Amino acid sequence: MTSVRPENRPLLSLTPVAREGVRPANRSHMTCLFKCGNACDQPVPNVSGNSYVQDEIRKAIGRRTVLRGAAVGTGALVLGAAGGTSLTAAAVEPQAALAPRKKGGPLARRSFRPVAPNTRDAVVTPPGFAHNVVVRWGDPVEKGAPAFDVHNLTVDAVKKQFGYNNDYVGVTPLTKDTALMVVNHEYDDPELMYPAGRYTQEEIARLGMYTHGLSVVTIKRGSTPGSWYRVAPGNRAATYNRRIHADSSFKMTGPAAGSDLLRTTADPTGRWVKGTFNNCAGGLTPWGTHLSGEENFNQYFNTEGTMPTGPSFGGEKDSYSRYGIAPAAGDPRKWHTVDERFDLAVEPNEPHRFGWVVEVDPTSPGAAPVKHTMLGRFKHEGANVVVAKNGRVVVYMGDDERFDYVYKFVSREKFDPRGTAKAKRHNKTLLTKGTLYVGRFTGDGLDDGVSDGAVEWIRLCSDTRSFVDGMTVEEVLVFTRLAADKVGPTKMDRPEDVEVNPVNKRVYVALTNNSNRVAGTEDEANPVTESGTRTSPGAPLETKPGNRNGYVLEIRPTGGDHAKPTARWNLFLVCGDPESPETYFAGFDKSKVSRISCPDNLAFDSAGNLWISTDGASAPLGQNDGLFRVPVAGPDRGKVQCFATMPKGAECCGPFLFDGDRSVFFAPQHPGEMSGASFDAPASTWPHTDDFPRPSVVVAYAQPGAVGRGTR
Ligand code: FEO
Ligand code: CA
Ligand code: CA
Repeated sequence: MTSVRPENRPLLSLTPVAREGVRPANRSHMTCLFKCGNACDQPVPNVSGNSYVQDEIRKAIGRRTVLRGAAVGTGALVLGAAGGTSLTAAAVEPQAALAPRKKGGPLARRSFRPVAPNTRDAVVTPPGFAHNVVVRWGDPVEKGAPAFDVHNLTVDAVKKQFGYNNDYVGVTPLTKDTALMVVNHEYDDPELMYPAGRYTQEEIARLGMYTHGLSVVTIKRGSTPGSWYRVAPGNRAATYNRRIHADSSFKMTGPAAGSDLLRTTADPTGRWVKGTFNNCAGGLTPWGTHLSGEENFNQYFNTEGTMPTGPSFGGEKDSYSRYGIAPAAGDPRKWHTVDERFDLAVEPNEPHRFGWVVEVDPTSPGAAPVKHTMLGRFKHEGANVVVAKNGRVVVYMGDDERFDYVYKFVSREKFDPRGTAKAKRHNKTLLTKGTLYVGRFTGDGLDDGVSDGAVEWIRLCSDTRSFVDGMTVEEVLVFTRLAADKVGPTKMDRPEDVEVNPVNKRVYVALTNNSNRVAGTEDEANPVTESGTRTSPGAPLETKPGNRNGYVLEIRPTGGDHAKPTARWNLFLVCGDPESPETYFAGFDKSKVSRISCPDNLAFDSAGNLWISTDGASAPLGQNDGLFRVPVAGPDRGKVQCFATMPKGAECCGPFLFDGDRSVFFAPQHPGEMSGASFDAPASTWPHTDDFPRPSVVVAYAQPGAVGRGTR
């Protein structure tokens, strides 16, 4: 770490967190500030003229009969019925896709009584299911880690302890009774982490820096089938345990590695980067490594000096502002005052070294993790890999910003399925060469009564050739948002997790919410401009402008081939309160589904049921976030049921189905992050092992002997 001379060190002062009111992105003031740097307070970074497909919508509206007043419980749908455009979103399903699957373990097949909306400070699972905490913030990960003591934290201790605010959770088997769990540590929240006055603000900056990153944690089966527990790092079984933090070296791969755009004083090669920050969702690759998305990285950079100017490539925004990188008076961390690499005036290329997909091999603890430039640079939510029919691998990715895009990558080389060490070495190079695409989602009009249309994947660049006028391959990859702006993709409502169903091979996209999606900005793929909301589970429904509750979009690749540049899309879910007319649950009876808002991370069980974790339900629906199961095939297609609710103030992250659907891992992130809360006056004390909250990973499973309400 470079140091700043003490006389040049501005006095750190934590910005007081505003305490009142509801934030536009459905989160508390504290979550907005620390998680994404108040992204919603900034102007929308995408000012390109790209389409909301309005012309097509208007054409369609002119032709068709407008449906109004859809009844709850009928499965019919009217979007924006409270005054906006009315669009139907019923999906026409080929019957072949509707055959119910009789696969999977208890979590896939057992019926359960959905957890009711609540505001409890607990993880609540249905009768017949149990859960336990696997690992908490501060638990020892690496050998030699001291026991967690919140009053005596040091950087050396934090480097070996489990970090804060877990998002991605992935698990791979190690032996019959042990497994390796890989977890992201997305961000820190000094207001909730430290007793008032205990640490100097410089200490808080450094402790926070190192609490970010990833952990590899060995876990072992508990005596109850489906339960898992942490193995202490001194144990021989835990040799793979690893903490990746702000000093860990990452190797840049792909066409932009070594680019002038990535070179800094500390790394004149442009090939080695220290640390990974704000890692959100991720994905397990078919070769057993984990991908992790660097998301709101922009907020860690600042300067008191002269802000540099980035290239603009003829667009309206320069590269810094398109990524939200700007001097921020309200910066709560001020890392630039303790480490010059976060000072934009000193190291203008350092932010170019973040915003990538990283890959970690948990079984190679000595190997540097990598950052893949071929997958583009944006606010990566996550990345999920599927092997296409021709053996090439395809990676689906979302850029989580209001009005940003969905991307995919197709590899040049083919996946080697042999499972040998040589095959794995080859597979670990697959994400370095291929073609990067961005998605255009056009509606086909509403005469068909369906909110659906075509996906065109537009080429941005291959590893050798740019398809964007005026930009080189390196520029396309480092400034991917600016490149995409030039080729006409569709502006979406905060694309989060994008994941392929292993059973029906369709792609599911969580579009979490967009309070700025107001009348006049809608299109067939993003149709909701008014949403039903509640202030508490029992409060009356009110209508508010914007898409408050989000969607899940379903994509069917042409011919079932993910490598093809075309596909069809349809809306699978329009989330929200089923009593509100804009909601839609794939045509399933709305009187029989759970309230759900702000879909974020996705997963599938081996029967192909979609599992959805939510982030932000408290503002639009007045209830805690949760984990939901929803079949995508058969007569129960669209039957959304709440499997778990989170503690107060927490979003639900993960989820990850494991061990033949005997276990589902998930991470209640930022418990207690609510207006007015602090370490000394916590809004949550979950998991109730201390008098302050500790973000943790949980595993849930069926209780032995408990009788479910039948299998489906
Ligand atoms: Fe970290 Fe897109 O949520
Ligand atoms: Ca249509
Ligand atoms: Ca997320």
